[in-house]
Amino acid sequence: MGRAVAQGMIDSGFPASSLVMTAKSEDTCASASSDLGVEVLRENPLAVRDADIAVVCVKPKDVAKVVSEISAPLKEEAPIVSIAAGITNSVLTEACQAQHAVIRAMPNTPCAIHKGITVLSPSEGVTSSQLELSLRIFDCLGRTYVLDEQHMDTVTGLSASGPAFIFVMIESLADGAVARGLPRQIAIEMAAQMVFGAASMVLATGRHPAALKDDVTTPAGCTIAGLLALEDGRIRSVISRAIEIASQRASELGEPKV
Ligand SMILES: NC(=O)c1ccc[n+]([C@@H]2O[C@H](COP(=O)([O-])OP(=O)(O)OC[C@H]3O[C@@H](n4cnc5c(N)ncnc54)[C@H](OP(=O)(O)O)[C@@H]3O)[C@@H](O)[C@H]2O)c1
Repeated sequence: MGRAVAQGMIDSGFPASSLVMTAKSEDTCASASSDLGVEVLRENPLAVRDADIAVVCVKPKDVAKVVSEISAPLKEEAPIVSIAAGITNSVLTEACQAQHAVIRAMPNTPCAIHKGITVLSPSEGVTSSQLELSLRIFDCLGRTYVLDEQHMDTVTGLSASGPAFIFVMIESLADGAVARGLPRQIAIEMAAQMVFGAASMVLATGRHPAALKDDVTTPAGCTIAGLLALEDGRIRSVISRAIEIASQRASELGEPKV
């Protein structure tokens, strides 16, 4: 995800020389540096010395350690943004001993191709210029939203886990067509383009998905026949429950292990 953030920034016009990245292993440092043309270090405190903002993209279990390492060398006015699932603003504030404004963020993997969603949840005390600076980074990667922290586990289940659910659906749609004899590669491409087109219609028209569904559904036609088969499989509750369970799991990720 850290690479996706950096790539999006560079593609949107941030000079590679304005970024400093870090990683744990020499291999990742070398590959990130050669792929992105960015300076990549192994020492977090050194990397943030002149930074206006720090974006922490490590696994949830490593966040508190990294935030505490960068707290002292980072300029006082520079905010710390964490993209880790389940790690709350209060954990971030405690990790930096309240020396920095903190922002919890949740991007998703389509950010890597600038079609992502990032939700930002600023803690109390984040100034408008600190939030604007954070939005400038994540605006490079797709749509951004600013929401209250109470919604962060839910958006993790919806927009961060959601691409995996849609990939399974695209595969299943293609499987159905392959079962009818369509070549696999064409079936996958058509299923993906169809999902893209349907999603674009929801966004472009602003109409309720149920109304758009009704438009496709000719009486006694093939679409209503397929829709009833989906309803037999409890498609709505299955998908809604997946979001609910993924959100619940997100809320557990920041909890200490026993
Ligand atoms: N994957 C998603 O869809 C997604 C979506 C939204 C948010 N997130 C969040 O993004 C975070 C990263 O996930 P990921 O999938 O990108 O994980 P990842 O591929 O494992 O990347 C983590 C990176 O952190 C580096 N790292 C580990 N410890 C470090 C340290 N002490 N100092 C500096 N760098 C360190 C690792 O370096 P090495 O490679 O050298 O080990 C690695 O490059 C997680 O907190 C996750 O909750 C992920």
